[in-house]
Amino acid sequence: MICAPHARAANPFRSDTNSLGLSRDLGPDLGRDRGVSASAAHNALHHSGRVLLWQGLETVAQLACDAPHIRPTDYGLGDAWCDTALRQDPRMHIDGRYVSRQPAGRVGADAPDDPGRFHGKCGALRPDPPKRALLTCDALRRTVANLMTKFALTPLAATLPSTVPFVGPETQERAMDRAFDARLGANESVFGPSPKALAAMKAAEIWMYGDPENYDLRLALAGHHGISADHIIVGEGIDGLLGYLVRLFVGQGDAVVTSDGAYPTFNYHAVGFGGTLHKVPYKDDHEDPVALFFKAKEVGAKLVYLANPDNPMGSWHDGATIKAALDDLPDGTLLILDEAYIDCAPVGTAPNIAADDPRVIRLRTFSKAYGLAGARVGYAIGAPDLIAAFNKVRNHFGMNRAAQSGALAALADQTYLQTVVSKIETARQTISEIGRENGLIPLPSATNFVALDCGRDGAHAKAVLGGLVARGIFVRMPFSAPQNRCIRVSCGTDLNLSTLRRILPDAIAAAEKG
Ligand SMILES: Cc1ncc(COP(=O)(O)O)c(C=O)c1O
Repeated sequence: MICAPHARAANPFRSDTNSLGLSRDLGPDLGRDRGVSASAAHNALHHSGRVLLWQGLETVAQLACDAPHIRPTDYGLGDAWCDTALRQDPRMHIDGRYVSRQPAGRVGADAPDDPGRFHGKCGALRPDPPKRALLTCDALRRTVANLMTKFALTPLAATLPSTVPFVGPETQERAMDRAFDARLGANESVFGPSPKALAAMKAAEIWMYGDPENYDLRLALAGHHGISADHIIVGEGIDGLLGYLVRLFVGQGDAVVTSDGAYPTFNYHAVGFGGTLHKVPYKDDHEDPVALFFKAKEVGAKLVYLANPDNPMGSWHDGATIKAALDDLPDGTLLILDEAYIDCAPVGTAPNIAADDPRVIRLRTFSKAYGLAGARVGYAIGAPDLIAAFNKVRNHFGMNRAAQSGALAALADQTYLQTVVSKIETARQTISEIGRENGLIPLPSATNFVALDCGRDGAHAKAVLGGLVARGIFVRMPFSAPQNRCIRVSCGTDLNLSTLRRILPDAIAAAEKG
């Protein structure tokens, strides 16, 4: 049992001004941490009781308030749970008091406002210096993180913010209680995979585990790139491979470099392994290899991340520029060159770099032009000893058999790929036209989406995006200024784009009204 409702009669948030302060102060912070709005967090703090997540927090508050008749164990939270919470910080300050872990037998002995009803291991309330404060301190955040999960997370995991790198369209659909009419926000390929890939996936003997070596696919990819298979590792999309790569390189405090507002999954993994992120700004809506490599040298980065072409702006550098910049990549820094959109880019965008160049690892995917985002197939090309290192950490049975056969058949059908690439080109033109018709400025794109500059700040672009989402069109936008003056629209079918053409004027008008 995680909750005993009868024990929640005295809700400290309603009656106690200090507690109201706790809720008010923590709401925005926890909201930010957990990727929800401050008011949602605030609400959850008030109305928790069923959700373990918030129940823990409420219990902390309860401990901090004058409601000693309610014991943590009344909430179904045992001694071990409290022990875990308090282990994180033996002197946890909360709103003018601190909860301290007491040796058994001394509980309440020097705590005049604690009648000693808490169990020994749960600690006692004691008066604190009269300053309230420290509500948002790391110690509390850490403790709350542990309270929220009830489990003895590692210190690193306990301190990680509960960010959600992407709120999925499905989540939004559930929240709106309706399906999107056009799904133009995740840079998938609405044109789908080759029919041969679909047939291969259908025929896959899915009752069997996939080949853990991905042997056939690696061999085919090696043939496709004119290299040997020991230069290639296959994984669960670029996102999965990024996780393995970061795990191989990044420990607590290791420096990594990326661009401010670049594709965020690298950041998510880097922080998840204790890395320290350093960011450089975009330059004229492009990621800036010179600045990235300069920063890498300055901070002694182990990894530097660069997507070419870039998401979210769609911009790109030609391969020669990337190759020339490599001369300034510091020794000991590995460049992660994310080429997710390379199939949509002009010839010459991929730099002519030897597959075993130890300075670079290149990431490719079947999620974009190949139309297999749901299958989760990506691969990395790099020096054989770097590629072999993935075997130390990867999930050897992470690839499923249908995905393996689908990717193999998709790779073999380059004719289909080219038809998709030309559909993408046409869709990019149409999105640009629709943008222009509505006073938005389309940015040149080498990807399967177009960034439309809404001409003002992030708040305005967000309002336009909100208008589209509310009217059934899923789109996304860049996270950081100044890129967040844009919305980002993925290539769609003719039907999708005629829906966009119809809806966009209303969405903009609603944004103008405010
Ligand atoms: C730059 C970039 N890299 C990687 C990915 C994810 O690729 P995958 O589906 O292979 O994980 C995306 C998806 O949007 C992307 O934009």
